[in-house]
Amino acid sequence: MDNTKEYLLEFKGYNFEKSLVKIHIVESVDDFEIRDDDVFIVTYPKSGTIWTQQILSLIYFEGHRNRTEDIKTIDRAPFFEYNIHNLDFIKMPSPRLFASHLPYYLVPKGLKNKKAKILYIYRNPKDVLVSFFHFSNWVARLKPSDTFENFMEMFLDGQVMGSRWFDHIRGWYEHRHDFNIQFMSYEDMKKDLRSAVLKICRFLEKELSEEVVDTVVKQASFQNMKTNPQANYHDIIKYEIGMRSDKGHFLRKGTTGDWKHHFTMEQNERFDQIFQREMKDVPLKFIWDINEE
Ligand code: A3P
Repeated sequence: MDNTKEYLLEFKGYNFEKSLVKIHIVESVDDFEIRDDDVFIVTYPKSGTIWTQQILSLIYFEGHRNRTEDIKTIDRAPFFEYNIHNLDFIKMPSPRLFASHLPYYLVPKGLKNKKAKILYIYRNPKDVLVSFFHFSNWVARLKPSDTFENFMEMFLDGQVMGSRWFDHIRGWYEHRHDFNIQFMSYEDMKKDLRSAVLKICRFLEKELSEEVVDTVVKQASFQNMKTNPQANYHDIIKYEIGMRSDKGHFLRKGTTGDWKHHFTMEQNERFDQIFQREMKDVPLKFIWDINEE
C-alpha cells in the first residue's frame, strides 16, 4: 500500500515533510516581513544545506568561530519552514540567517525587492539522490525505501520532501532575475573550500581577515563538522526528530561521485536522459566526479 501521504504534506504543488513543517508559516509566507540584511540559504534537500549553514554561522558570528557560545548551527541559521525549535523570527536580531528548501514561488514576496540575499547551493542530482536515499532510511520521519530503485522512482516522481529536484532548480534558475541570488555548487565548495568561502563573503559583502577565513575553512571541513556536536545535527536527529537506527549520520560521506557505487548502468542511462531533457535550458555547471577535471 502506498503510504506516501503519511509522510508528505502537499501545499500549492510542493511536498513538505508533514510532521515538521510549520504550515502557518507557509500559509502566511507572502507577508513575512523581509529585512534588507536577511540572508537565505536555499537548497533542494541533501545538497549541502547544513554545510552552508555552518559556513554562514562561522562568517557572521565570532562566538561560533571560537566556540565560546554554545549555540547550535540550526539555531544560528534556522530552517524557515521547518522551524523545529519554534524560534521567534520576528524578534531575531539582524542580520538573520535562514535555511530553506522552498521553491521560488513560495518564498516571502519581500525577497523580490532584491535587497535581502539568497545563496542557492546545488549539487549534482545523482549524489543528491544517493544521499537522500540513505537519509530517508535513517530518519524516522521520512518514508524508507527497501531498494535504491524504489527510492529513485519516488525521487524522479517528486514523491519526496522537496518534490522534484528538476522543478526546484529550474524554477529558481529561471526566476533568478527576480531575486538577489548567487548560485554555487556543492562540488565547487568541495574542490576548493577557501575560494568558495571568499566567493560567499564577496556576495554577502563581508570582509574577513585572512586569519578568520582560515578559521572558517577549518571549522567547515567535513571532519571538523562531523565531530562537532554544534554542527553535525546528530543529537537533533537522535533526540528530537527520531532515527531508525544508530548507524546513520547526517554527515555521512561528504563526497562527490558516490552515485557510482549505487546506480546500475540502466539506471544511469535513464537518469542521464531525463537530465538532458529537463536541464537543456539551464546552463549551470555540474560536476559528477571530483576527478573529472
Ligand atoms: P552525503 O549523504 O553524501 O554524505 P543537507 O545538509 O542538504 O541535508 O546535505 C547533506 C549532505 O551534505 C550529506 O551528504 C553530508 O555529508 C554533506 N555535507 C555536510 N557537511 C559537509 C562538509 N563539511 N563537507 C562535505 N560534505 C558535507
